[in-house]
Amino acid sequence: MSENVTLTIDGKDITGEKGQTIMDAALANDIYIPHLCHHPDLAPYGSCRVCTCLVNGRPQTACTFPISDGMEVENDTDTVNEMRKQIVEMLFVEGNHYCMFCEKSGNCELQALAYRFGVTTPRYPYQFPKREVDASHPNVWIDRDRCVLCARCIRASKDVDGKHAFDFAGRGPNRHISVDAADGIEHTPVDADDKAVQVCPVGSLMLKRQGYKIPIGQRKYDHEPIGTDIETGASKKQ
Ligand code: FES
Repeated sequence: MSENVTLTIDGKDITGEKGQTIMDAALANDIYIPHLCHHPDLAPYGSCRVCTCLVNGRPQTACTFPISDGMEVENDTDTVNEMRKQIVEMLFVEGNHYCMFCEKSGNCELQALAYRFGVTTPRYPYQFPKREVDASHPNVWIDRDRCVLCARCIRASKDVDGKHAFDFAGRGPNRHISVDAADGIEHTPVDADDKAVQVCPVGSLMLKRQGYKIPIGQRKYDHEPIGTDIETGASKKQ
């Protein structure tokens, strides 16, 4: 039998189960904790730091930190959201994100987070890194300009698709997604219906011939900020 754990998030008492992360417990209680690398169908990874909360006054990543009795979590506060805003701004300047003509615009979690946090112009200098595009596959393409190194595709390909088609290569600013074939994604076992392709939060791993298919006004984040489906409980009904 599971053991109950009681904690507070922004002063609200919630109950979780022993072994849950703060993110899991929050989601079960319809509390949105902003996140990017976290995906409910994948193992926790803890790389993007967007889910950072103050736990008993110390910054911790909600997607990896286990709950405990009496824990006090600060989530939706000005201080915490300002930290997250800075992280999102850093993600924008580290890559090449041209939202206005990106096919993922309106359905992109990074863009939606920027709107939620009120990012206008990042306070950090753009780095304009040189990144490779791989469009060799007949149905799937990678634009590394937009990659945020969340490892969702790596985890999904390995743990769900059973293919291990993606991994990281390089270090520091040269870190990038690599494919398990010397001559491009075309020579990997990746298929269009792979979980790895579905879970990319940005426009980095994309299906071909789908660009701009959903009209402006009908895209996922056209009417409601990211996280609204969790806060209203709508995500549980899907
Ligand atoms: S969502 Fe927790 S570190 Fe990325």
